[in-house]
Amino acid sequence: MTVLLEVRGVRKRFGSQVVVDSVDLEVSAGEAVGLIGSNGAGKSTLFSIIAGTISADDGSIFLEGRKLPNRADERARRGIARTFQIVQLFGGLSVLDHLLVALQAHNGEAGVFRDLRGNGATTVPEMTLCMETLELCGIAKLAHAQTTMLSLGQRRTVELARALVARPKLLLTDEPSSGLDESESLRLAHILNSVRRSTGVAVVIVEHDLATVAAVAERVVALDAGRVIANGTFDEVIANVDVRRSWLGEASA
Ligand SMILES: Nc1ncnc2c1ncn2[C@@H]1O[C@H](COP(=O)(O)OP(=O)(O)OP(=O)(O)O)[C@@H](O)[C@H]1O
Ligand SMILES: [Mg+2]
Repeated sequence: MTVLLEVRGVRKRFGSQVVVDSVDLEVSAGEAVGLIGSNGAGKSTLFSIIAGTISADDGSIFLEGRKLPNRADERARRGIARTFQIVQLFGGLSVLDHLLVALQAHNGEAGVFRDLRGNGATTVPEMTLCMETLELCGIAKLAHAQTTMLSLGQRRTVELARALVARPKLLLTDEPSSGLDESESLRLAHILNSVRRSTGVAVVIVEHDLATVAAVAERVVALDAGRVIANGTFDEVIANVDVRRSWLGEASA
């Protein structure tokens, strides 16, 4: 399989604490990787480093064999998208508006500038892409709903759709099941799987909920105190002695 993302020797320190420690990680095109680890293991920080919102102290990151530029917006344009641990949607905007704004920003055409140039209207291809994305995520019927009226599961799906609207090559999704019950989590996992099948996007999912990890990830990587301590199938990683000790809290695994 073609290597999509290559993280090489990435390190990050906050004050005296090394939060990401010499991390190597490869993700193939279209692959689904689960990233697990206890609270504070460095998972979200690693996502921020890959997305370019936090700069690493050391190491390099490549997408499709090319070193990534430092700026987050350029990385997004190269095909890296992300959803956040805490849902970040705007009140007063419809579901469809969230996708349109994201798509136009991605294309370097934020609405206000288009309006100033007198060509603020949404184009048919933009509208089509947004509606297709909502359909892919199973929420087309919510297109005109205000996001404040939606359940947490629906809002998380809107976040996912927004991240996918510009058809990224790599989706980093940070605890998409957080706060959801078992059936909502499973539904989100199904959406992720069907989106991956139909668009070919590679997915890295950070998740504490093991059922979601098992449902989505083809391979699992475990972090502990910023270091990769295991890499393999879900069963291999969950059975790993270091993982059981560090993450599952077993005193003598
Ligand atoms: N901006 C920051 N400044 C200082 N320390 C930070 C900053 N961001 C994160 N940290 C610290 O870095 C460590 C790793 O944090 P991170 O959020 O990456 O962990 P995580 O694996 O995502 O944890 P969780 O499962 O709780 O989300 C933690 O000790 C955290 O307190
Ligand atoms: Mg986190």
